[in-house]
Amino acid sequence: MTSLHIGAQKGEIAESVLLPGDPLRAKFVAENFLENAVCYSQTRGMYGFTGTYKGKRVSIQGSGMGMGSCGIYVHELINHYGVKNIIRVGTCGAIQPGLGLGDVIAAMSASGDSDANFHTFKGMNYAATADYGLLSKAVEFAHQNNISINPGQVFSTNTFYDEEPNRWEVWQRHGILGIDMESQILFTIAKRFGAKALALLTVSDNIITGETASQLEREQTYNNMMKIALEVV
Ligand code: HPA
Repeated sequence: MTSLHIGAQKGEIAESVLLPGDPLRAKFVAENFLENAVCYSQTRGMYGFTGTYKGKRVSIQGSGMGMGSCGIYVHELINHYGVKNIIRVGTCGAIQPGLGLGDVIAAMSASGDSDANFHTFKGMNYAATADYGLLSKAVEFAHQNNISINPGQVFSTNTFYDEEPNRWEVWQRHGILGIDMESQILFTIAKRFGAKALALLTVSDNIITGETASQLEREQTYNNMMKIALEVV
């Protein structure tokens, strides 16, 4: 039996899943990094593949953009398919001047404006955090392989476009490295249902300096992050 939004049978998804926002990224990674990749779902165009990496079974599933979409996939992966480890592999906009395009952030925690969390925690603030074991493995692997990595805090927002000028100033002063749209709900739901989660984010633009990466640069720098994620699972 499939879940509501993923067209896989039970057993077709590995215990460890990489979760890019972009479903075409899932297809690209499956075709270029995995051996014997099989597409298990095309429901809503949100591709999912299972294959092996250095002999280990691993899946890669698109999550879509924003916490509403991402939360659906995380919930079904864990509760319907028994997934144990989820590593988001995405992009973020940096809000610290020292972070350049292509830098990799390993999210220790994700603050954010998730309305789901606002309701769940009755307006109080839950500190959504990564799994320490996955986080420390990722940092260790990057150091050993001379890949620069920035462990730190991120913020997940549901509004890419916003009315407010200087919206990130207070978050910048409180140490947030970058802005994405998924990590807060991933960490929250994974913790709720006993799965482990991590988010690795490549800086695709710097919101403070206005720098933006070209499509080609995004692809090349994304590969460093994929290597870390595949080694960690
Ligand atoms: N905002 C939110 N999410 C993002 C951004 C951004 O500027 N860049 C990449 N993901």
